[in-house]
Amino acid sequence: MVKVENLKKTYPGKVPTPALRGVSFEIKEGEFVAIMGRSGSGKSTLLHQLGLIDTPTEGRILIGDADVGGLNDSEKTKFRLEKLGYIFQEYALITELTARENVWVPALAYGKDPKHCWEHAAKLLDLVGLGERLDHYPNEISGGEQQRVAVARSLVNSPKVLFADEPTANLDSASAKTVLELFRKLNKELKQTIVMVTHEPDDRQYVDRIIWLSDGLIEKIEKVERIKHK
Ligand SMILES: Nc1ncnc2c1ncn2[C@@H]1O[C@H](COP(=O)(O)OP(=O)(O)OP(=O)(O)O)[C@@H](O)[C@H]1O
Ligand SMILES: [Mg+2]
Repeated sequence: MVKVENLKKTYPGKVPTPALRGVSFEIKEGEFVAIMGRSGSGKSTLLHQLGLIDTPTEGRILIGDADVGGLNDSEKTKFRLEKLGYIFQEYALITELTARENVWVPALAYGKDPKHCWEHAAKLLDLVGLGERLDHYPNEISGGEQQRVAVARSLVNSPKVLFADEPTANLDSASAKTVLELFRKLNKELKQTIVMVTHEPDDRQYVDRIIWLSDGLIEKIEKVERIKHK
């Protein structure tokens, strides 16, 4: 599903920063993979290259059948919108819109039937356990609930891959657990491929494999024992 070959990213500047120094790995369809490593090891940088948010300095990224390095800017934008989903530490919901509208809007972006999208938004909010909160505004729900709205929003175009960068960093431990269990459910029941950056050692119990980064390189790739999954 995702294949990376010799990926490098050096941030330009007075003193160029080599954040990724040659990274190769493969993620299979339906896998839930964590990217871990200490602060500054290149986790977010890697996620940004995979998610087509940034352009690598060198190397190759394949998502599905597409060699995404060959896409121009407008093709990239289309690819992101149609094929990828994102969840960040900040929920980035639009405060003037209800939960349902927040999920609805990205579905409209490339011309689907608005009524269908409206129904789909409600179904997704139900899936994340917020069927009773459709008309609430972001400031009327908890942080954990806001992040679940963001999860529903990320799923609206049935992404091939869901990318999450420290999705639970702003949450209390109970809300964090709810979000991670939701990820696990999406992974198990919808076979959703997920790539998640995390700092939390405890998150290992939810994932299939961990890509450990150290100083812009892969330190090791660890397979997590299935037995640990509930
Ligand atoms: N936009 C940028 N310009 C220049 N250097 C950057 C930029 N973004 C990140 N870096 C540098 O690249 C390296 C990797 O950063 P990155 O954000 O990928 O780390 P990280 O593993 O996500 O860290 P954290 O756990 O703190 O979020 C760091 O040395 C960082 O200072
Ligand atoms: Mg980071």
